Amino acid sequence: MKILEEEVCCGKTKVFIGKGSLQPALREILGSGRVAVVRQEAVDPTYLLAYVKNVELEVVLKGGEESKNIETVLHIISALYSRGFQRSDYMIALGGGALTDTAGLAAALYLRGLHLVNVPTTLLGMVDASAGGKTAVNFGNMKNVIGVFYQPSVVVADLNFLDTLPLPEYINGLAEVVKYAFTMDAELYEYLHNNAKKVLGRDYAALEDVVYMSIRDKLSIVKSDPYELKHIRIVLNYGHTIGHAIETLSQLRVSHGRAIAVGMIYESCIGEALGYHKSYVTEKLRELLHLLGLPTRLEDVGISRGVSAEMWKAVIARDKKMRGDKLAVPMLTDIGSWKPAEMTVDEFIEVFMKCV
Ligand SMILES: NC(=O)c1ccc[n+]([C@@H]2O[C@H](COP(=O)([O-])OP(=O)(O)OC[C@H]3O[C@@H](n4cnc5c(N)ncnc54)[C@H](O)[C@@H]3O)[C@@H](O)[C@H]2O)c1
Repeated sequence: MKILEEEVCCGKTKVFIGKGSLQPALREILGSGRVAVVRQEAVDPTYLLAYVKNVELEVVLKGGEESKNIETVLHIISALYSRGFQRSDYMIALGGGALTDTAGLAAALYLRGLHLVNVPTTLLGMVDASAGGKTAVNFGNMKNVIGVFYQPSVVVADLNFLDTLPLPEYINGLAEVVKYAFTMDAELYEYLHNNAKKVLGRDYAALEDVVYMSIRDKLSIVKSDPYELKHIRIVLNYGHTIGHAIETLSQLRVSHGRAIAVGMIYESCIGEALGYHKSYVTEKLRELLHLLGLPTRLEDVGISRGVSAEMWKAVIARDKKMRGDKLAVPMLTDIGSWKPAEMTVDEFIEVFMKCV
């Protein structure tokens, strides 16, 4: 088991990573406070409940995007309120990223915050959604419109949960791992390149290393820019400008990980065209994505190359990464390094259309 501890903004976040890390983690962190478990229907809670004695409330949600809304948040808050939960009590959020985002928002809002323990059960949840302090639910047709920054006190990435995760969901999470490797961690890149087979086969030892390095990378960024106010946290959006546009154009048919895998390739092409890095970076990115079973071309995810520049612009201009009329985007400078760039959507689209 590996442990990470980081002071983020206004408190400590402790992360336990490894197969079987749940038991020692819970033994260490749960004090005498009462425990509410908010969990996803698809995840068997037996393993968790065996180690938590003082569960006073269990809220079971369908999970996924379907329950990621403000009504679910109010439902959780109402359950906490009716049982008289106090700020010194704990909420354990057990599920994928959509569930930890939703339960995290409820934990942040209830009495201005109770102890949040995230137990992610997807790879994406482990390496991305559970440790960065962003909580949110969808509103209207848009993702993550209502939310706050609220750091969990503890994250337990117990790899046992990944045993039941369907392969496409698992591969989704690998796209975010590749993002960390290419933007900020050449060591992780080498590791993935040399151990792709083991990682794809969910070898526990390799996974522990990969999840550890990914969370370490994410926390290093979150710590420097917890509220996304400096031009630092934008690096976590690498591949996401085009990736989100792909998700929107496909009406969310294309999964997040597959969309950002393709997004990273086109954003790397844009960076190359603008002189930020050499062409071998894009080639190595494409090679690694292939090794890990991820798509690299628009047609691989069912998006036509015939989509017009106007259509791309309409979708990208609504992006949360807009600052006034400028788009703030991270650009690779090499494998494992990056720098921020700002450009208008028109400038971005002009180069992008040459890559399509
Ligand atoms: N807060 C953040 O910083 C952040 C970062 C990235 C993504 N997100 C959010 O995370 C969500 C995506 O997360 P996700 O990829 O985990 O998807 P998800 O939460 O929708 O879960 C994916 C699917 O896996 C199932 N599942 C979960 N754990 C399982 C397990 N152990 N075994 C079998 N099935 C299991 C779920 O029921 C669901 O059908 C999105 O809503 C996204 O906006 C948040």
